[in-house]
Amino acid sequence: MSEQPKLMTIGILKTPNDPRVCLLPKEVARITGELNLHVLFEPGLGSSLQIEDEEYTKAGATCMPRETVVKKSDTIVSINHTFSEVEMKGDCCFIGIFNPLFHDSKFATYKNHGATVYSLDLLPRTTLAQSMDVLSSMASLAGYRAILKSAEFYNGVFPMFTTAAGTLTPAKILVLGAGVAGLQAIATARRLGAVVEVFDVRKSAGEEVRSLGATFIEVEGYVESSNAGGYAVEQSEEYQQKQKELIHKHIQSANIIISTANIPGRKAPLLIETRSVQAMQPGSVIIDLAAEQGGNCELSKNKEVVNYKGVTIIGNSSLSAEIPAAASKLLSNNYFSFIKYMSKSENPEDILLSACKILDKGEWSHPHFTKQLQPA
Ligand code: NAI
Repeated sequence: MSEQPKLMTIGILKTPNDPRVCLLPKEVARITGELNLHVLFEPGLGSSLQIEDEEYTKAGATCMPRETVVKKSDTIVSINHTFSEVEMKGDCCFIGIFNPLFHDSKFATYKNHGATVYSLDLLPRTTLAQSMDVLSSMASLAGYRAILKSAEFYNGVFPMFTTAAGTLTPAKILVLGAGVAGLQAIATARRLGAVVEVFDVRKSAGEEVRSLGATFIEVEGYVESSNAGGYAVEQSEEYQQKQKELIHKHIQSANIIISTANIPGRKAPLLIETRSVQAMQPGSVIIDLAAEQGGNCELSKNKEVVNYKGVTIIGNSSLSAEIPAAASKLLSNNYFSFIKYMSKSENPEDILLSACKILDKGEWSHPHFTKQLQPA
């Protein structure tokens, strides 16, 4: 196994169309001060959050044109892919959130340029990596934001209203998938007074769901895998059909559905069929947080709002970007923790760094890709 790259000069770049910023001045000051590394950044890095360039320079970083940042940095950090082929230089290291198991075709350019790439969404969900866990940070905000967004589109109220003019019943919300995003959605919906029902394949999610005051609906027959690291695994055709039927039954009385069900590296499970959407009342809302992975709803389109027979279907897997100040605060801590960890690591086989390294000097290095390269 080759050595981990040495960090010396870190360049921070903006990601087009994403208002989140991966490192804020506070953490940049820690990189230049505590870790004694050089930091370069492109002008306007924090402009989406009204952060002036001077705040970064006060933190010890140097502002340079984007091309110079690329040329002079040995490590480039960004939220997501930010490069055109023209800008790339060889032998550079990239750190970001690239969703590589689903978007592997985007890595051709990095490969061609002999780049090393770390994708923070592949860090194992262990105690050691908790401070770097970008997935949990973003999922938590996305679950919260999904509920607020659904409230904007829903034509009713969340809590029960008892007034002299009559009673309004509380909104009924169905949450599909009780991972980090789902649990935050449940907690937010409950605080607003909604009635919440929840599906998850993992039995262990039931206790957490019930502790938040929601009802857990279980589909019998789920098969777990001990080496899935706590994640869900794909189920048999029979199980999936049984689950779809039960979900269809519960959807008919739901005003809002927040779907978050995912299986790492696979297409998201299809849980909401067109016939189920047809059974919902006009004015109902579906927010599909799994849209980027293909969606939990047959009718959702990633990054689009679809109106189907009066039901609004929002496909969006980046809802944390709609609260960019909060998202950047968490990301900045996650990125700093990773950079600090990387700068201190001397072990070429470091378990965390190896787990999220996609390319090593242009060669696939993650097991997901190296396995595919082996002859059958
Ligand atoms: P995720 O985004 O991969 O999936 C979301 C949820 O969808 C999961 O709860 C999954 O069980 C569920 N799901 C998958 N297929 C489904 C289906 N057909 N029907 C209904 N639900 C389905 O998961 P996330 O939120 O990233 O977390 C997953 C696991 O990781 C959990 O066990 C969580 O406790 C664990 N975790 C551990 C951490 C740590 O130890 N540091 C940090 C964060 C999460």
